[in-house]
Amino acid sequence: MTAGGLAMPFRSGGAGEAAAGTAAGADASGRPTAADRRIGPPVLEVRNITLRFGGVTAISDISFDIRDGEVRAIIGPNGAGKSSMLNVINGFYHPQEGEIVFHGQLRRALKPHQIARQGIARTFQNIALFKGMTVLDNIMTGRLTKMHRNLFWQVLWKGPAEREEVAHRAAAERVIDFLEIQHIRKTPVGRLPYGLQKRVELGRALAAEPSLLLLDEPMAGMNVEEKADMCRFILDVNAEFGTTIALIEHDMGVVMDISDRVVVLDYGKKIGDGTPDEVRRNQAVIDAYLGVAHDDES
Ligand SMILES: Nc1ncnc2c1ncn2[C@@H]1O[C@H](COP(=O)(O)OP(=O)(O)O)[C@@H](O)[C@H]1O
Ligand SMILES: [Mg+2]
Repeated sequence: MTAGGLAMPFRSGGAGEAAAGTAAGADASGRPTAADRRIGPPVLEVRNITLRFGGVTAISDISFDIRDGEVRAIIGPNGAGKSSMLNVINGFYHPQEGEIVFHGQLRRALKPHQIARQGIARTFQNIALFKGMTVLDNIMTGRLTKMHRNLFWQVLWKGPAEREEVAHRAAAERVIDFLEIQHIRKTPVGRLPYGLQKRVELGRALAAEPSLLLLDEPMAGMNVEEKADMCRFILDVNAEFGTTIALIEHDMGVVMDISDRVVVLDYGKKIGDGTPDEVRRNQAVIDAYLGVAHDDES
């Protein structure tokens, strides 16, 4: 096993359920239970989705739902179809079979920006920021879906749009305050350490004020301290704004600590779905995680 973002088997702490030191040092202790946090009915339903790339079936007849206000983890070995699933949810990929129901409505095949307007934002497995632009400007790009004109730069800098720009800038500054990155707001993103870049990417997604936030391995490659920070921000977003969160994560300590429910994929199929405790005891899940596919994660 190499360091950094590597998938770990489920914590084998035996008796020490919740309290046993978490790998990420997440400060999830004392977090209100799901019931206390007003978790509601499903906001998004994935129904019998199948997605193929030529001869490769990345996702095979998968169904699950994401409830309003919950933190929903998607886990599974490399190549399981996790990123593809997020790409289906936010409209990057169009599945050959199945349907997505969002807020009770069958969703038509929309373009990603149309889906973003409906309140779904995401971060990527590989950071997708403008490295030469400042933190503030990158976070401003998250406001794009909120802007009324198509031409971003014109809207941003020319006369009649000035008032709109001021409002967007204020929203971006609120995100910056929330994520405690005021001190780097004018720094080009490319100069920041990796963990902070991941936080800026979260900021860009938050700037869109999503109701559903999709995070693809938000803690991959982070050190313990950075992971603890990211966990805290994710839980704070969920608690303070009621944002529903679906995240892909390899660190099982993190998954067990911050998620309300977990869906487990393996080779494009769903092999488990339930609370962290249920999933941890699921034999199919344990087998998948002890299998060979697990050793070459990077
Ligand atoms: N754009 C693509 N074109 C072809 N194959 C793809 C594409 N995206 C993903 N795949 C394949 O789909 C499968 C699932 O990939 P992915 O969703 O990235 O898995 P995970 O995120 O769980 O590691 C893999 O076999 C991968 O090679
Ligand atoms: Mg992936």
